[in-house]
Amino acid sequence: MTDPRTPASTPATPDADWWRDAVVYQVYPRSFADSDADGLGDVAGITSRVPYLAGLGVDAIWLSPFFPSPLADGGYDVADYRDVDPRLGTLDDFDALVRAAHAHDIRVIVDVVPNHTSSGHAWFEAALAAAPGSPERARYVFRDGTGDAGELPPSDWVSNFGGSAWTRVPDGQWYLHLFAPEQPDLDWSNPAVRADFEDTLRFWSDRGVDGFRVDVAHGLAKDLSTPYRPSNEHDLPLDGSDPLYDRDEVHEIFAAWRHVLDEYDPPRAAVAEAWAPAPRRVLYARPTELGQAFNFDLLESPFDASAFRQVIERNLAMSEQSGASSTWVLSNHDVVRHATRYALPAGTDTDAWLMTDGVSPTPDRDRGLRRARAASLLQFALPGSSYVYQGEELGLHEAAGIPRDLLQDPKWVRSGHTVKGRDGCRVPIPWTESGPSFGFGDVAPFLPQPADFGACSVSAEDGDPTSTLSLYRAALAARRRLQSGESLTWLEAPAGVVAFARHDGWHSVTNFGTDPVPLPAGHVEVASGPLSDGVLPGETTVWLS
Ligand code: GLC
Repeated sequence: MTDPRTPASTPATPDADWWRDAVVYQVYPRSFADSDADGLGDVAGITSRVPYLAGLGVDAIWLSPFFPSPLADGGYDVADYRDVDPRLGTLDDFDALVRAAHAHDIRVIVDVVPNHTSSGHAWFEAALAAAPGSPERARYVFRDGTGDAGELPPSDWVSNFGGSAWTRVPDGQWYLHLFAPEQPDLDWSNPAVRADFEDTLRFWSDRGVDGFRVDVAHGLAKDLSTPYRPSNEHDLPLDGSDPLYDRDEVHEIFAAWRHVLDEYDPPRAAVAEAWAPAPRRVLYARPTELGQAFNFDLLESPFDASAFRQVIERNLAMSEQSGASSTWVLSNHDVVRHATRYALPAGTDTDAWLMTDGVSPTPDRDRGLRRARAASLLQFALPGSSYVYQGEELGLHEAAGIPRDLLQDPKWVRSGHTVKGRDGCRVPIPWTESGPSFGFGDVAPFLPQPADFGACSVSAEDGDPTSTLSLYRAALAARRRLQSGESLTWLEAPAGVVAFARHDGWHSVTNFGTDPVPLPAGHVEVASGPLSDGVLPGETTVWLS
């Protein structure tokens, strides 16, 4: 047994199980806080807001990619896995952020993107300069084309962002990219790729990082044997037989990662972003692998009592199977914000709605926010870890009216301008009621903010006891105080109401309907909206003790 590696910085209270019930705040670095007036959020900006995050009551921050990147996909196209993008700061700035977070007992989770590099990564540049069949090309998936002169792609696989998943290079070969052409897929059957990534995990762990979010974790292993078989990422089989996603071989990679993560004391945590069928997500979450896997089921549910209850039951059962705790998410940088989703009629196609610049159907914004507050308060009562996406604590709505010429998401171009994409949830967040970017920085931000953002700013909501910010602060403080154990007991409730007890001293009751129901007895700890005498109004959650 070798001694555990000693990182540069450690949190104030050591605890190997911190991730099991952590509230994790997702920071999208370019849109969080701009400290140097270039319109782009940066690492020093995040550090300056650590006291705000501590006051909010989160246990960890997850940083979406801040690495050097040509930004073909908002930073999920990484040109160097072991550095900070110069526009966002330096490694020293990063170390200062980790120290500041740890001083407030906030853990730091870094996003690793192992499925693909940027086309600006030194490896890909070397691959392009090298000949077909070379070791440089063998880190990626280069293949000859089909057709008489190789002019057709090797297979009919499609990219997640639209169009073929293959792009041709000048010497005639094609390379695979499950996302944008600027995101060439790595070949994970190549030991050189594996070894290098393990060193990247050590690099950040040595700097004091407490955990990793693993991007597209279900995509790393591919069946590249010919004839190529069709892939259907929207309806993956339960037996791991799709050629591109959720294959059994991927688990060998994560078992090896677990050995690296366990070189540290406490072991580094990891959570898989694996859009695999629910029963197979438990595989990624095993303690011998990443330890946790995202459960996106609440995010995909309508605001409906039986849908929520089913999702909760299924995921708690899966946690029992894997030994991991669950991970609850309502919003992130890839989806329309939940206050806005809930403001639209059930079943609305949000891509189509965004194409109308958010006007048809007309969102009922008050209702959306009321429901979002109720859903978030329910989420925080659930056993397991809870994710908060920056700005949801302010009750932000999707910025649906970004002018088309300013859109940045590769989906916009790759879809032939038929899908606007994810920029509307990535607009810089408002800190103050006025100013050129509502306190995000001193100049206009890289994506325009809606005029009404000021009313949802931190300074506008700060002293207002009815604000969403005050609700989140109260909820997270109460959660800390009340939380114990990892189980829940369902309580009897009228139709349209979801009620459960975490233990005798903590009940959560959500009325998903619109008519009031009787308010159960107990001391009100937190409520997502105003309560009237003896009744729980519609679309409201209350915690009772
Ligand atoms: C993940 C990220 C998303 C990104 C994609 C490709 O799904 O969450 O933002 O575009 O991976 O890296």
